[in-house]
Amino acid sequence: MIVTGLSLKGFRNYEEAYCEFSDGINIICGKNAQGKTNLLEAVYLLAGARSFRTRTDDDLIGFGKNTALVRGLAQADGRESEIEFLYRRGCRKIITVNGVKKTPSALSGLVRTVLFSPSDLELVRGGAAARRRFMDLAICQLRPRYAAALTEYNKLLAHKTRILRDKDKKPSLLDVLHEFNDGMARAGAAIIFYRSAWCDKLSSSAARIHADISGCGEILTAGYRTVSSVPEPRQMKMGQIYDLLLEHAAQHREAELASGLCLSGPHKDEIELTIDGAEARGFASQGQARTAALSLKLAERDISEQDAGDMPVLLLDDVLSELDDARRDFVLNRITGGQVLITCCQNDGIAELTGGKVLGIHAGRITGGGLTL
Ligand SMILES: Nc1ncnc2c1ncn2[C@@H]1O[C@H](COP(=O)(O)OP(=O)(O)OP(=O)(O)O)[C@@H](O)[C@H]1O
Ligand SMILES: [Mg+2]
Repeated sequence: MIVTGLSLKGFRNYEEAYCEFSDGINIICGKNAQGKTNLLEAVYLLAGARSFRTRTDDDLIGFGKNTALVRGLAQADGRESEIEFLYRRGCRKIITVNGVKKTPSALSGLVRTVLFSPSDLELVRGGAAARRRFMDLAICQLRPRYAAALTEYNKLLAHKTRILRDKDKKPSLLDVLHEFNDGMARAGAAIIFYRSAWCDKLSSSAARIHADISGCGEILTAGYRTVSSVPEPRQMKMGQIYDLLLEHAAQHREAELASGLCLSGPHKDEIELTIDGAEARGFASQGQARTAALSLKLAERDISEQDAGDMPVLLLDDVLSELDDARRDFVLNRITGGQVLITCCQNDGIAELTGGKVLGIHAGRITGGGLTL
């Protein structure tokens, strides 16, 4: 799966630009604030119509403009698709694939991406929510059933939280609590089932990659932890997990009523990370944290490839800063295979080392492999 070309008009700081990507490594090179991350953002949009930087589509439209256009050409399974987004200030965007109007969910399968950006340090440094979001984004791209279960669970969770909050004013709300527990146990069992299978692959793959990048055999572990009454989800069928979750909810009913909170469920799940036995969140150095976050992302790419049969497009934003030379060289060697877009401020021999295609970015203009219109 590759993105072969990209056209931008009025998108962020791009007036009008077009570029072609190679099916291997593409080095997006330019000084600060020239448009490198904006270019990756445009490619990322092709995979699911969502930005990794903003929830507001109007932010994508160039300052002082009213419309923006992003058009990408993608190839997957020997088929070519032209994916286009037309943004109009204050209006809903129009998505078309090969000229036919589509919804965002209809984009699934055309382009898959794995993104590493500086904010991914949160995966290691941040709270459990960052690691849950990582699992969710990755598994949703592979399993539509997981995405449906997650949507259902979050809807029920929000509703149950309101019931627990408002029960004193309206005690009759509690009559339906068991229905919510049942629905959440059903959706929650699916979520736990898929997460535990995915984390199993993640932990072995990320450990291997981290040991390689660190070059000195650092050991990264990534352990999935869910509701305490489901200690070994990997050994269980979905129905067994459902039974345990339902029982757990019954046992904790009084505690939930007393606290007014949904106390347990996959909304509290965690991926526990350690490096050489120490909790990564509190003890990893900057370079170690960056290496661990990158290892998790590269492991996500491997799982996606094994699962779907082809490599997702790898988008690496500012990945090389803070890595020492050995780690940097290893990363550059490790990312071969599949299409990669990597941003950097200085080429610094990256093109020679990787044989990649260099696209220069200056003030929203693309030079080198790109054409400036
Ligand atoms: N909607 C917009 N309209 C016009 N310009 C924008 C818009 N959104 C962002 N920009 C500008 O685009 C410029 C380039 O941003 P971008 O994040 O792509 O830089 P970069 O090349 O990745 O820089 P760095 O190396 O610092 O990460 C910035 O100056 C930013 O303010
Ligand atoms: Mg940037």
